[in-house]
Amino acid sequence: MTRGNIQLASNERFAGSYEIPAEKLQQAIKSATDKLYSVAERLGISNFPASRNKSYIPCENNNWTHGMYTGSFLLAYELTGDKKFLEVATSQMASYQKRMDEKIKLDDHDVGFVYVPSCIAYYKVTGDESIRQLAIEAAEHLYDYSFSKKGGFVIRSAWRLQDYDANRTMMDTMMNIPLFYWAWQETGDQKFYDAANSQVDITERLLMRADGSSYHHYQFEIGTHAPVKGVTFQGHRDESTWSRGHAWGISGFPIAYSYNNDPNLLLLHRDAVYYMLDHLPEDFVPYWDYDFISGDEPRDSSAAVISVCGLLEACKYLPDSAPEKAIYKTAAHKMLGSIIDNYAGDIGEPYDGLVAHVAGAVPMNSGLDMCATYGDFFYLEALLRFTKPDWKRYW
Ligand code: GLY
Repeated sequence: MTRGNIQLASNERFAGSYEIPAEKLQQAIKSATDKLYSVAERLGISNFPASRNKSYIPCENNNWTHGMYTGSFLLAYELTGDKKFLEVATSQMASYQKRMDEKIKLDDHDVGFVYVPSCIAYYKVTGDESIRQLAIEAAEHLYDYSFSKKGGFVIRSAWRLQDYDANRTMMDTMMNIPLFYWAWQETGDQKFYDAANSQVDITERLLMRADGSSYHHYQFEIGTHAPVKGVTFQGHRDESTWSRGHAWGISGFPIAYSYNNDPNLLLLHRDAVYYMLDHLPEDFVPYWDYDFISGDEPRDSSAAVISVCGLLEACKYLPDSAPEKAIYKTAAHKMLGSIIDNYAGDIGEPYDGLVAHVAGAVPMNSGLDMCATYGDFFYLEALLRFTKPDWKRYW
């Protein structure tokens, strides 16, 4: 499909060069990192959080979201230079080996979400060789267990292949495949590179629609893994665009580009970004699905912070002469500025997380107004990208 044809209808909203004041960014960093640490002390430093609406309760390392919890401490360490954050991440590392040895909830597509922002990040920050080996093991596991060699995609739930609904792939996987790209770079094993590129190709052909919107899931036949149709899981309807799923694409496409240099990916990314920008409400923070632009539906602030990181990542590869670059920068500042003002810090409501009004899984009536580690992590990543543009990415 030809990409890069989408025009931005809301051009005027993103014209000019709005920037969040530096002092506001510093205050946001201080308030977020202080809160991260005080909640960790209450949970127990080496424990993990389970989201219970506005609260976190302590649990073991057993969820797709937990890699981003450890990653939040590594980001906080890089933001502040304070070693106490690194010590928290260090105290959590043994749980990733245990999780791999015992295969605790690693029987699906989200192994990248677990091991990239935790173990690859820890290796990049500390150079710890044993953690590098563990991350390579995680890549092998994702490849052996969840990558369909027949279909060329990462399967949603490889453990129930006879279940029709499990024979799907999804937008979220754009943020799992950096595990494959990284493992290819580290080991030279071509199978990882080919698998990652195959997932990108399927995302481009089957999950991304011509107007820059996206399906959440794509259904394949049992057995043959032949393509069937686009469907949803966490979105409003099959033909709508679930905002967090779309955000996983907006952040994942430029990361994939950084590994494979396919120029079509930047055009695909631009189409996805323009679709998002044309569907943002007045305060620049998405509702849970882009079917909604105003009204009382739940927001998903995590979709905003994830997307901000994707906008800033793409700016690294665009020449200053590209008109979209100025649009991306202004949009990133407006979106993050609204998060700082209206969704983070002291907003008069008690949330254990750093960012309020995250939507979990609205169709399942689960977590309609919650905090979650993916909101926290990408908020800190966005703050780090704004304040240290040469930051060495974890993904
Ligand atoms: N990976 C599922 C989600 O974003 O909720």
